[in-house]
Amino acid sequence: MTRRNQAVFSLVFAVLAALLATSCSRSIAVTVIVPKPTAFGAAIVESSGGKQSAQTGSLLPQPVVVQVNDEQGTAVAGALVEFSAAPGVVFDPANALTDSSGQVTTNVSLGGMAGRYQLVASTTDKSHKKIELKIEEIALGYQQALGRHLNDQYCERCHNLESTVERVSNYDNLEVKPHPFTEGDTLNKISDADLTAIISHGGPALGKSALMPAWGNTLSKSDIQALISYIRAISDPPSRSAGPVYAKN
Ligand code: HEC
Repeated sequence: MTRRNQAVFSLVFAVLAALLATSCSRSIAVTVIVPKPTAFGAAIVESSGGKQSAQTGSLLPQPVVVQVNDEQGTAVAGALVEFSAAPGVVFDPANALTDSSGQVTTNVSLGGMAGRYQLVASTTDKSHKKIELKIEEIALGYQQALGRHLNDQYCERCHNLESTVERVSNYDNLEVKPHPFTEGDTLNKISDADLTAIISHGGPALGKSALMPAWGNTLSKSDIQALISYIRAISDPPSRSAGPVYAKN
């Protein structure tokens, strides 16, 4: 390296270091008041609330519940749990100590962009090592939220495995089992054109059971479009058109 190059190099380095220092101090400047833990766990697990969907910017229907356990898998009370995610996601509360059953419950509002949001719940073990749990939630755009509304109205009673009173008289009685729309392994293989065909004209349009009714007279083209965008948004594993994933920077 020539002397001149060296000088340029160290100048660039100094500028980079300065930039880095200011950006770091900026993120440290955010003061978060956190309670002091009275105990430490060895693992953090999800109790409930993952893989939900809600319209962008709105509260998830169920709270997210996580649990801190020790090495033996026994719940630990008094451990600190902190939640974080991409900007725009709001946790209420954002941190808390685990209760007597080792759990922390938080209400989550997703950000304003449609897509998947990765939430992180963390705790620290005895040696102050951070232990993280990742949870994914889905924010539905306007069209997808409309699709969900139509799904609740017309499709759920046969396509949802969850136990509801209606399910007993519908899903359980169907000889050919329809798939839940979250079942990406099946749904992702069906093209948009084929989805449009089976929803409009019923099961036989794809050589499937006639127990899948035709909806072409009940639903408009844009309704069917909305249902398809909803199906694509919630599939697990994600479809190619599932949209971006927003994670903590
Ligand atoms: C009366 C029960 C019933 C209702 C209501 C119903 N479906 Fe179905 N659907 C079925 C059955 C049964 C199948 C499986 C057909 C087969 O595999 O032969 C099916 C299959 C499908 C499939 C192909 C993937 C799969 O699950 O096998 C799609 C997509 C689908 N339905 C979409 C819809 C949409 C969208 C609605 C609401 C507008 C709806 N269905 C309402 C019974 C129903």
